[in-house]
Amino acid sequence: MAILPIRTFGDPVLRMKTKPVDEIDDAVRSLVKDMIETMYAAPGVGLAANQVGVSRRIAVFDAQDGLGARVMINPEIVETSGQFVYDEGCLSIPNRYWEIERPAFARVVALDLDGNEVEYAGDGLMGRVLQHEVAHLEGGLLIDELPKRVRKAVLRELRDENLGLK
Ligand code: NI
Repeated sequence: MAILPIRTFGDPVLRMKTKPVDEIDDAVRSLVKDMIETMYAAPGVGLAANQVGVSRRIAVFDAQDGLGARVMINPEIVETSGQFVYDEGCLSIPNRYWEIERPAFARVVALDLDGNEVEYAGDGLMGRVLQHEVAHLEGGLLIDELPKRVRKAVLRELRDENLGLK
């Protein structure tokens, strides 16, 4: 097991749509173990494979519901409902939080490490982490959900920081 370096805002891998997994082999199992270790070490409640530089449709999360770390391979959101504003952060944009509005409830269908279909559903942190991680796998970031004007200002700030202008 290994703690992997987490890619941060500005790294193009975060903006690429990830490729589905067609075979759950030892490489996938090993990657998932490392992702779980990396998520807990960060510490965070979710991590997508492209955040560690691997453009595959895999994410891990721990919704802090006592069930521990869980894996989503090829996840798809099949249902959302409601609305919910949550103070949301991301390991790829460290130490920044924004009030982000998303649906409150989400249901995701995915495969587990044995290739069995699994379903994860909930509101609160569960609903939020499911949507946040699936968005990563589509090349999305939480700041995409901000109102346009706020998003523009935030993007400018983040780009300036990346360029070392601040
Ligand atoms: Ni994130």
